[in-house]
Amino acid sequence: MEKLWAGRFSKESDRAADDFNSSIAVDSAMIRQDIKGSMAHAAMLGAKNIIPMADAEKIIDTLAVILAEIEDGSLEVDMGSEDVHTFVESVLTERIGDAGRKLHTARSRNDQVALDVRLYMRDALGELIGEIKSLVNALADKAEEQKATIMPGYTHLQRAQPITFGHHLLAYAFMLLRDIDRLQDVVKRMNYSPLGCCALAGTTYDTDRRAVAEALGFDGVVPNSLDGVSDRDFCVEAASALSIVMMHYSRLSEEIILWSSWEFGFVELDDAYTTGSSIMPQKKNSDMAELIRGKSGRVYGNLFALLTMLKGLPLAYNKDMQEDKEAIFDSLDTVSACTTIMTPMIATMRVKPENMRKAAGGGFINATDLADYLTKKGMPFRTAYKTVGGIVALCIQKGVVLDELSLDEYKKQSELFEADLYEAISLETCVNKRSSEGGTSVPSVEKQLKIVRAALEA
Ligand code: ARG
Repeated sequence: MEKLWAGRFSKESDRAADDFNSSIAVDSAMIRQDIKGSMAHAAMLGAKNIIPMADAEKIIDTLAVILAEIEDGSLEVDMGSEDVHTFVESVLTERIGDAGRKLHTARSRNDQVALDVRLYMRDALGELIGEIKSLVNALADKAEEQKATIMPGYTHLQRAQPITFGHHLLAYAFMLLRDIDRLQDVVKRMNYSPLGCCALAGTTYDTDRRAVAEALGFDGVVPNSLDGVSDRDFCVEAASALSIVMMHYSRLSEEIILWSSWEFGFVELDDAYTTGSSIMPQKKNSDMAELIRGKSGRVYGNLFALLTMLKGLPLAYNKDMQEDKEAIFDSLDTVSACTTIMTPMIATMRVKPENMRKAAGGGFINATDLADYLTKKGMPFRTAYKTVGGIVALCIQKGVVLDELSLDEYKKQSELFEADLYEAISLETCVNKRSSEGGTSVPSVEKQLKIVRAALEA
């Protein structure tokens, strides 16, 4: 295929250099956005009499046919093209000749690619937000079902205080709601059209950038043409927000992996989301969760690739920026794939409340409540804390837990102890007395659930 710049050059470029330069394998993903951008551009060129209306119409009609053929598979992208912009323009020109050659008036591939990436990301982020909402919904459903299931809550991975499994799952729901918020924020700041910035300096034609922006659903135009073609901060922002999503998925995956282990036995993943071993017949591995945890690495890597690619670039466009798409598209694809596997994995996960309860009950998880018991009877908290510390040491020495120590023994430690202490340190009391806002009691969790459901509907 003849190069766009053949006029200036006297020698063919090297084949390997062509391949190295080509971005079609990555940017053909934006072909729909590229065509829609060109249709809006052509309409503006016609309306402003920059090209004859008849030519503009021919371009728009033919682009619509090309789009339809791409959708139904009858037109295949030529992987030998330099990039998606060149491919679309060459097909157009093959079909309508000189009219097609007028499309690139008052435009450059620099503003064209900046436009395509924004359009692509807007679509992709919109879809992804929908997928993350489904995951939050799955977490909320599971949390509702498990709102009274008592499990150990941990700090430092040491049993700390009893909580409910519903409470634990909702913590992730709130993290993901903030992720959705961050992604929406990226779209909001990104949603300004760079088209019409041209190569870098704007154009001598009397264009109407605002009309194009409006036709393409933007909130306005990028006010500075150098900025419009030079910055990819929206890719960095998206890559950063997507990294935070993966960090959350990775923590949840880590917990699922722990919970499914023989040692914990808190949940069992559905067979559909686990794998066996080629040699050990007893194994059921949580491969999906492990892969999600592992894939956080590449998404963080993409963020660093983008930041590093941009850091030394003089204004305006530099070819380095072609690397933006591979990084951000991979992050978008990876987070989407992880989200769509995580959702049914959570929805089908079988919870084992008996094991959770056993793990919550077999130790000193109610020690804080014993100290609170004394405090509520008038002992200063620090003194109560110390007293209970001594009781815990005594229990360890005797090989019993707090619930098993006799009232006589308790009374030797403090006059304030009465028979009602056992009720005060039962796991149910520990959970249900924590009715503060955001706490683990069933009514508190129900309130949190309502907040999550309302956010999903908003
Ligand atoms: N494939 C290029 C990219 O993704 C398109 C823009 C090319 N512009 C240029 N001046 N060579 O960045």
